[in-house]
Amino acid sequence: MWSLRNVAVFGLTLLSQASATILQNGQVRPTNFPDTRIDPSAFSFKTYPADATEISYKGRIKFAYTGKTVAISFGNLTSDSVLVGYRIGGLDWMFTNITAGATHLLVSPETPGSDLAGPINPWTFEMRVTNWAFGIQLNAVHVAAGEKLIKLPDFGRRIEVIGDSLASGMYTSYEGLSSWPKKPEPWDFSKRPAADIVVINIGTNDNNKANNVSTTAYIDALTKLIQGVHGKWPKAQVVVMSLWLGFYQSGNTYLPNAPEGWVNEIYQMVKWFNSDDYLRNPVIYDGVTKKTSRTGRKAKPFVHHFNTSGILQHNDIGPQWHPTDVGAIKVASHLQQFIRMKFDWEFYATGPE
Ligand SMILES: *[C@@H]1O[C@H](CO)[C@@H](O)[C@H](O)[C@H]1NC(C)=O
Ligand SMILES: *[C@@H]1O[C@H](CO)[C@@H](O)[C@H](O)[C@H]1NC(C)=O
Ligand SMILES: *[C@@H]1O[C@H](CO)[C@@H](O)[C@H](O)[C@H]1NC(C)=O
Ligand SMILES: *[C@@H]1O[C@H](CO)[C@@H](O)[C@H](O)[C@H]1NC(C)=O
Repeated sequence: MWSLRNVAVFGLTLLSQASATILQNGQVRPTNFPDTRIDPSAFSFKTYPADATEISYKGRIKFAYTGKTVAISFGNLTSDSVLVGYRIGGLDWMFTNITAGATHLLVSPETPGSDLAGPINPWTFEMRVTNWAFGIQLNAVHVAAGEKLIKLPDFGRRIEVIGDSLASGMYTSYEGLSSWPKKPEPWDFSKRPAADIVVINIGTNDNNKANNVSTTAYIDALTKLIQGVHGKWPKAQVVVMSLWLGFYQSGNTYLPNAPEGWVNEIYQMVKWFNSDDYLRNPVIYDGVTKKTSRTGRKAKPFVHHFNTSGILQHNDIGPQWHPTDVGAIKVASHLQQFIRMKFDWEFYATGPE
């Protein structure tokens, strides 16, 4: 968010003052995690390739397995020493740093909870890369000899989030683990099922004067993005989040940096998408050919405005210009409730996790 240069300069200042201890929500942030690397030749495994149909990629890697052993071989393109979070069933997340090109034993009979029985049967395994900017390359998944992977049923609904560092959890604890997973670019629509809801939270960097993006250029790009999504996924509902731009101290209190952030322009754009004029003959934009065309079909309203104004207070934004854990959770909770009320979706944290 905002100018990278500002962030970098700030980072340097911080480095020169701080010791190795990182505080997170008032606690010392752990940086020492168990080393799970193994020599796979010492084990007897049943091995599945990365493209095995039993392995799902739904925001994270997830599959079910029999037995009490899961090991993963990572490709050379893995960001070396990247921190991943993983868990079995609905138990607590475990963390380990991954070595590019190595095999890691992530679950074994000694893994806490391995002896428990419960509603989640067979055992599920899920893993996420914590940092939005790093990644892993999956080469193979191993279970104990004689055991197997089991494909989990797909989710019935899907949300895609188009965003930047704010949506990806930059500077929050465990970053991507506590926010949404990153989207590879360029996005290959043909390889992904259509989303039911597309949330767009983008533009904070563009709004930074240092990046010299005009209001017209920004609104034009955002409009085309929405028309592009509608062209690919005609049934998707698009939720456009208004931008927030932090706070400044004014005398003895703090004030939000409104009305910066194209608050009114974004709202007017959403209103235009909902006008009869537009809905009678919506435009679709093909980002590949850069052409716009008319669908010729009357559309139901599909663009919604999620007003973030008034959710955050100054101390919900951390020193590096991004929401703190609490700030991110506040925005996410309001978005959850918005989606529940607007689209009648249920909350799912009511059964086995
Ligand atoms: C990965 O790197 C190792 C060590 O450099 C090398 O032996 C191996 O061939 C590489 N594998 C691939 C698929 O590039
Ligand atoms: C593991 O990842 C954390 C978070 O990125 C990092 O602070 C730590 O240095 C890493 N440890 C190793 C051994 O690479
Ligand atoms: C800002 O953008 C405008 C329009 O593209 C361009 O004419 C101008 O030179 C840019 N200014 C800077 C400082 O890059
Ligand atoms: C957004 O919310 C703020 C705070 O409640 C309110 O002042 C503003 O009018 C709202 N904007 C729109 C377009 O509804």
